[in-house]
Amino acid sequence: MQKKSMTITGCIFDLDGVIVDTAGYHYQSWKKLANGLGFDFAEEENEAMKGISRMDSLDVVLSIGGIEKTQEEKLELAKQKNDLYLSQLSDLSSDHLLPGVKDFLDLLRSKGMSIALGSASKNARFVIDKLGIKSYFDAMVDGNDVSRSKPDPEVFLTAAELIHRKPAELVVFEDSQKGLIASNEGGFISCGVGDPEVLTNALFVLESFEGLTLEGLSQHILQSRSHHSSIS
Ligand code: BG6
Ligand code: MG
Repeated sequence: MQKKSMTITGCIFDLDGVIVDTAGYHYQSWKKLANGLGFDFAEEENEAMKGISRMDSLDVVLSIGGIEKTQEEKLELAKQKNDLYLSQLSDLSSDHLLPGVKDFLDLLRSKGMSIALGSASKNARFVIDKLGIKSYFDAMVDGNDVSRSKPDPEVFLTAAELIHRKPAELVVFEDSQKGLIASNEGGFISCGVGDPEVLTNALFVLESFEGLTLEGLSQHILQSRSHHSSIS
């Protein structure tokens, strides 16, 4: 039987939880901040924080603690959280890349694919620098460049524009439901990275990038599309 093929011209990567496992550092920093304010912040509650901006995350944390703050106080708390977060990144290096990421970036480069970053983090460029992978990216869009947080597709649409590619030809890799909604909303091919039970907004989910080929990626897309069309 002849295999179907499809056109992918590039990939957009979320950063935290896709390229590097910084989600735990974000969580520990919010937990410390919450503890300092007199309440606890459980790990299960952290899932909803993935993909959203620092200020939106702070609002979630404060609402869990039932605490109200002025805008000025919020800015100070967000700064405290960021200082806690950055203090954990001093040793960050390419050793912290998630499994298979480097090989997959090399593969994309060798095949002439466009590569972009689409992250909510204002620390994204700093983290990418520390990981030593800056040269792979044709464009980087992060929390400093957009005015609307995921699930709004602005971050991915801006990245697509910068690399001059159509959303339908780009695979977005995301570890958060909010990011996957943003990707779907923008008309991208949405690939979850992590747990399929959690990432229900993905077209398909990969456990990691280990061993991923472009043919494998195309097959995942085609199979998931035919599965979705047969059940809808
Ligand atoms: C996202 C993370 O990538 O960036 C969130 O998933 C984080 O947990 C957000 O809050 C903002 O990050 P930063 O580095 O700007 O505080
Ligand atoms: Mg993420």
